[in-house]
Amino acid sequence: MNPPRTEDFDPYAAEVLERSPDAFAELGQRCPVHHYQGKFDFFIASDPREIKENVLRDHATWTARNGNTPRVMDERYASGISTDPPEHFAIRSVIQRGFGPEQMKRLGGEIDRIANELIDSMQADPAGEGNFFECFAMPLAARLMCLMLGAPESQYLTYKQWADDMTFVEYNVPEETIDAHARKINAHFGAMLAERIAKLEAAGVQPALEHVGTILPDDFMSRYLCDKVGDRPLKKYEVLNLVAAIFIGGNETTMNLICNLLWRLLEVPARWEQLKADPTLIPVAIEESLRLDPPVIGLFRTSTCPARLGDVDVPARAKVFYNIAAANRDPARWPNPEEFRLDRPLAEVRQHLSFSAGAHACLGLGLARMELRQVCELLTARLPALRLTGATHRAPGFNFWGRENLPVAWK
Ligand code: HEM
Repeated sequence: MNPPRTEDFDPYAAEVLERSPDAFAELGQRCPVHHYQGKFDFFIASDPREIKENVLRDHATWTARNGNTPRVMDERYASGISTDPPEHFAIRSVIQRGFGPEQMKRLGGEIDRIANELIDSMQADPAGEGNFFECFAMPLAARLMCLMLGAPESQYLTYKQWADDMTFVEYNVPEETIDAHARKINAHFGAMLAERIAKLEAAGVQPALEHVGTILPDDFMSRYLCDKVGDRPLKKYEVLNLVAAIFIGGNETTMNLICNLLWRLLEVPARWEQLKADPTLIPVAIEESLRLDPPVIGLFRTSTCPARLGDVDVPARAKVFYNIAAANRDPARWPNPEEFRLDRPLAEVRQHLSFSAGAHACLGLGLARMELRQVCELLTARLPALRLTGATHRAPGFNFWGRENLPVAWK
């Protein structure tokens, strides 16, 4: 058996957290497979080919059924998107149908409305400065998420807190605490779902997509209730599981992307000027931000049997973290990969792994890209004087990367 490599890389160390994408990318250069044994026990796979061709493709060996955290979660969590193909294909297509052209158009309108409203408030503020995360990125992403799920937009701070509870707390606490958070969220969304089921019953009809936007409000919860997996309706727990997946998967990630991009654009004022002068650079700026500052540094799979990563033997039921930050700085693909550059060809820079790949590739990527494009267009047009006014600091979560504090002035 090949022993794992010896490395003292600790993903939770303060000096790593301070510069996570750089640190994870450097680890990848030194050590394509690292066995971390500290707060948790997991392998870190950093070779882009190994990740794409093995970890993200061989579902029989690297399962998603034991959760996306450093713990081997109980298989009772294995439903909805926490499953493997072929079971996973059917459930995934339910989510995909929620992102059809009509829905995207409507969501685009909502992004415009919320973003303009937030910019109005910023412009009306006599101080003309603040934390961009709080005054723009977080409320935009969280309010949109509420709308998508059919939750009241005015309660976005509560929903954001719940998403945080699920995203960050679960790595450090006993499973009972995770269960308690999940129960609270499920009870809340469960009550919303019950109201919708009651509406259909009152109308004397069975769940069907034709009732979305007529008897039921047009949002993701109604869609999941009325859609089918294969030829059967989704069970109640499956609807709630998908709602939770969107709720958790779409919140933090989008806020991180908005703040990371603005941070990179403002830290070198000439870049901001360049983008204002040439808005055709916006798509490259978005992809370059995703590549260099992945909002998700990496995620987990679990080995179902003794397996190999590169030349390292991995036992059964081991956790493997696929290192997106390292894959995104592959020097064979991008020259000077550690530099943020607006002159990279769009098709090349889009090859990053920030939305993952294969069967579990992000289903919200079209929405995230659309949202960012609209944000960039609005900010450059309406807040052209934006500039950084101080040091930024990172958001929590060792495998997330975003700015919780991004001090800016706009007047
Ligand atoms: C910048 C924004 C985003 C980033 C960087 C991101 C990243 C990711 C990543 C890395 C995965 C792979 C998960 C895995 O390997 O297990 C994923 C999956 C997923 N994402 Fe996103 N995401 C973003 C935005 C969104 C949004 C806005 C939504 C929904 C509104 C969303 C919904 C999902 C869903 C449902 C999955 C699971 C797909 C599956 O398992 O088949 N994401 N995302």
